[in-house]
Amino acid sequence: MTNQYNHHHYIEQSQGLLGSTYYGTFFKEHFHSQAGAWEETCHNFIETPEILNYVYTQNPKELTILEIGLGQGTGYLTLVSKLTSLPIENRPFLQFFSLELFEECLLFAQETEKKIQRSQYSKYSEYSDDSLNYYPEFNSQNFFENKNNKNKNSQNIFISKNTYGHLEVLWGNALETILLLKKKLVQQNINIDFIFHDPFSPSKNPELWTGHWFEQLRSISHSQTRLSTYSCSKVTKKGLSEGGWFYEKKAGLPPKREILLARCSTLQGSTLKK
Ligand SMILES: C[S@@+](CC[C@H](N)C(=O)[O-])C[C@H]1O[C@@H](n2cnc3c(N)ncnc32)[C@H](O)[C@@H]1O
Repeated sequence: MTNQYNHHHYIEQSQGLLGSTYYGTFFKEHFHSQAGAWEETCHNFIETPEILNYVYTQNPKELTILEIGLGQGTGYLTLVSKLTSLPIENRPFLQFFSLELFEECLLFAQETEKKIQRSQYSKYSEYSDDSLNYYPEFNSQNFFENKNNKNKNSQNIFISKNTYGHLEVLWGNALETILLLKKKLVQQNINIDFIFHDPFSPSKNPELWTGHWFEQLRSISHSQTRLSTYSCSKVTKKGLSEGGWFYEKKAGLPPKREILLARCSTLQGSTLKK
């Protein structure tokens, strides 16, 4: 698959307040806020949608996640860290799908994982020793081998798996790869439980905030799926409503005041808006 953005794109690591996040020169935006990559990811995508509580109370055999924008892999690595803080008997089989436009991000994700292995994230005490040995790791070798594969269907997919999970990155424009993912999910008869909606902002990345886009996400969800996103803008709310989602405001992590949590259906007495 040819990637129309590949020739224009370059990402450099930013310094200073933002620590180890990256800056996308094509979109002119950082991957994370000044709260920090790890903290923001944890707050927006794990604590706000209450993933651990869901795992404790529902005890699902499988947990299926879709992330929009792999970036530097923080979404996956933070979730894995949180899940491996649970007793082994409570850990679900993890199916993690991520849609990513830029091939470099696979290397960034691998780099992030290596930094963690070198204990650069040691302040995150919940990052247990076995985190990186339990769920699948980012090993981009398969992906780069696939790129030269004659089988065109697997060229833009990166898969890493083991007994405890399946990590899959679909490389290309999410507007196209979502269709591929949809087919896979239908074949396997599974829906997404949680969506980490983390593209760049609506002003920089508008095609991933439309009613049409959110409708696509709804079509691979079930009635209790939770979608969280850092954006609380009018465009986001409009897109969610048009795509059939109900949303509510939740506290953001400073400097962000509010974020959004959305579901496909309302619960009784719920304050969700449409
Ligand atoms: C805010 S960053 C994601 C950060 C990432 N979740 C993390 O925690 O490291 C946004 C990501 O969306 C990706 N992206 C932007 N437009 C896209 C598109 N049309 N299809 C797929 N990915 C896209 C960017 O390349 C970037 O990696």
